Amino acid sequence: MKTHHHEAPSHRVAPGAPLRERAPTARKAAPAATVTLPPLPYGEDALAPVISARTVGFHYGKHHKTYVDTLNKLVEGTELAGQPLEAIVKATAGKGDKTAIFNNAAQAWNHAFYWHCMTPAGGGEPAGALGEQLASAFGGFDKFRKEFSETAVAQFGSGWAWLVAERGRLKVVKTADAETPFVTGQTPLLTIDVWEHAYYLDYQNRRVDYVNALIDKLLDWEFAAENFART
Ligand SMILES: [Fe+2]
Repeated sequence: MKTHHHEAPSHRVAPGAPLRERAPTARKAAPAATVTLPPLPYGEDALAPVISARTVGFHYGKHHKTYVDTLNKLVEGTELAGQPLEAIVKATAGKGDKTAIFNNAAQAWNHAFYWHCMTPAGGGEPAGALGEQLASAFGGFDKFRKEFSETAVAQFGSGWAWLVAERGRLKVVKTADAETPFVTGQTPLLTIDVWEHAYYLDYQNRRVDYVNALIDKLLDWEFAAENFART
């Protein structure tokens, strides 16, 4: 009696056959889960007037969504399909033949992180352990604020400014294009997107005004403290 009549003859694998010959059977598995666009943690108008609903609408609904959609198309049918986003970023970082996948995966990760770095009634100074570390690492909150702002403004072209923890030490760093610090062992606590699409509709070329307003009015120090507590 045939028990495997549902399998095409070419899919039968003899005992001891090389593993790769089993691939056609493996591909019958359910489609791998795709990376999803996470919901915004607030309404599109919640960050106005610092960042308008129009900017958030384009930035989240077009730019961020496109990174996610493009990533899913690029990894479809590859060994990266179904992997968690962070794993895809780590697996493709620095790999010359995976640049497109890395760029879209890292941008998907960076944007998901960025939305959580802001909150409508944000800004001010962090308290607790993070506040103490910030004071000791930078010589006071005002000096941190200045360094974070200047670093964000100084990033030439598209990129990101970050507050990170590295081996217990706080640092301000910047990355170009889609680069993200967590692949080099730094733990991101906060970021500012300085791609023009983040501010151009509201501030045109005045990146410094966007950066300073975001720092002073939107930064979510509770989110940063949660990230710091996990380091
Ligand atoms: Fe962006």
